[in-house]
Amino acid sequence: MNAASTAGSTADRTQASAASLEFRHVYKRYGSGRVDETPPRSADDPAGSPDVLGQRPGVRANPRAPVTPAAVEDLSFTVPAGSICVLVGPSGCGKTTSLKMVNRLIEPSAGQILLDGVDVMSQDVTALRRRIGYVIQQVGLFPHLTVGENVAVVPSLQGWAKDRKADRTRELLSLVGLDPAVYERRYPSQLSGGERQRVGVARALAADPPLMLMDEPFAAVDPIARERLQDEFLRLQRELAKTILFVTHDIDEAVKMGDLIVVMNHGRLVQFGPPDRILAQPANDFVAARVGADRGLKRLSLRRIRDLEPEALDGRTGLPEFEPRVKLRDALSALLAADTRGGIALDDDGKPRGLVTVEAIAAALNDELDTGRPNAETPREPAG
Ligand SMILES: Nc1ncnc2c1ncn2[C@@H]1O[C@H](COP(=O)(O)OP(=O)(O)OP(=O)(O)O)[C@@H](O)[C@H]1O
Ligand SMILES: [Mg+2]
Repeated sequence: MNAASTAGSTADRTQASAASLEFRHVYKRYGSGRVDETPPRSADDPAGSPDVLGQRPGVRANPRAPVTPAAVEDLSFTVPAGSICVLVGPSGCGKTTSLKMVNRLIEPSAGQILLDGVDVMSQDVTALRRRIGYVIQQVGLFPHLTVGENVAVVPSLQGWAKDRKADRTRELLSLVGLDPAVYERRYPSQLSGGERQRVGVARALAADPPLMLMDEPFAAVDPIARERLQDEFLRLQRELAKTILFVTHDIDEAVKMGDLIVVMNHGRLVQFGPPDRILAQPANDFVAARVGADRGLKRLSLRRIRDLEPEALDGRTGLPEFEPRVKLRDALSALLAADTRGGIALDDDGKPRGLVTVEAIAAALNDELDTGRPNAETPREPAG
């Protein structure tokens, strides 16, 4: 695990391309005095400690301090290397605070955050931040630097040779869909919101960090641009396979972007799991209300034609055809629009694989998840 020290010293691709991330009983209480810095809880501490302020291991009350609610409270979850984990929840629930504790812009009051198994608090902060790309909503591009110079900020700090910096900058601009010949010499004020956002992503990727933190990265652009940025980013991620901690208050974005979702409320984890499980089995009324009454349709967006076992085609032709990648939701809407009950599922070679029907798609919604009983991993309700 010393990708940090190799960053920028050899070919970028030799750096660990993704790191695992773990939150272990992390607390943050802003202001002084309320929480003493105490040794972090050990991993084998019982999870269900007394739920009374000041009585948890790792959090000691200062009796003279004013009572302020914790911004983050007993947050624990693990993100495997190469996955996108989305923190989602209402304004003020502690998403940004959680993110900033990873790169130590904010220090946790208690608990541990482990990057590839090593506590971030034990690492040199500069070396740590080199391993972490950071993208924020307002992008924070330097207005007096060109797009190319903005992307090259971290490589410049790391003393990369000029040619290598230039190559990397052009590679990254192309990667995020901006033609270097057109954009490299422009200034941020000469870009659209979506273009600026892409430059922000390119800049965060410049040193090929094994972890990316993204705080509402697409929130400032209009819905159409946002969807395109999301799609492009997912395509990019299929290639790069970074570990990504992504913040949004939009449950639809969370479902679309996340391999894993942490639903937060009042600083606490309310539910943790893959999007399909959260849609199928909301842990409580809070989650159910956020995923919405159309969570069935949302689940159909997560499944594709290839996931269905088609029926025998029996020689039928002239029906709508669906490639394996087509989402069930899109297939359903195509079938309804064509006023037909069935369509043809194609295989990867474009040959008919079988018949998919409106009924089969509807039935897919009732599939039991193979991960057990409803609410199997439901943590406690959020503090009321
Ligand atoms: N520097 C600070 N000092 C004191 N309290 C703070 C500070 N920063 C955040 N808070 C408080 O901590 C809580 C969590 O804030 P945080 O910024 O993490 O929320 P968030 O989930 O990112 O919200 P949003 O969706 O609005 O960005 C809020 O109650 C907020 O008022
Ligand atoms: Mg925030």
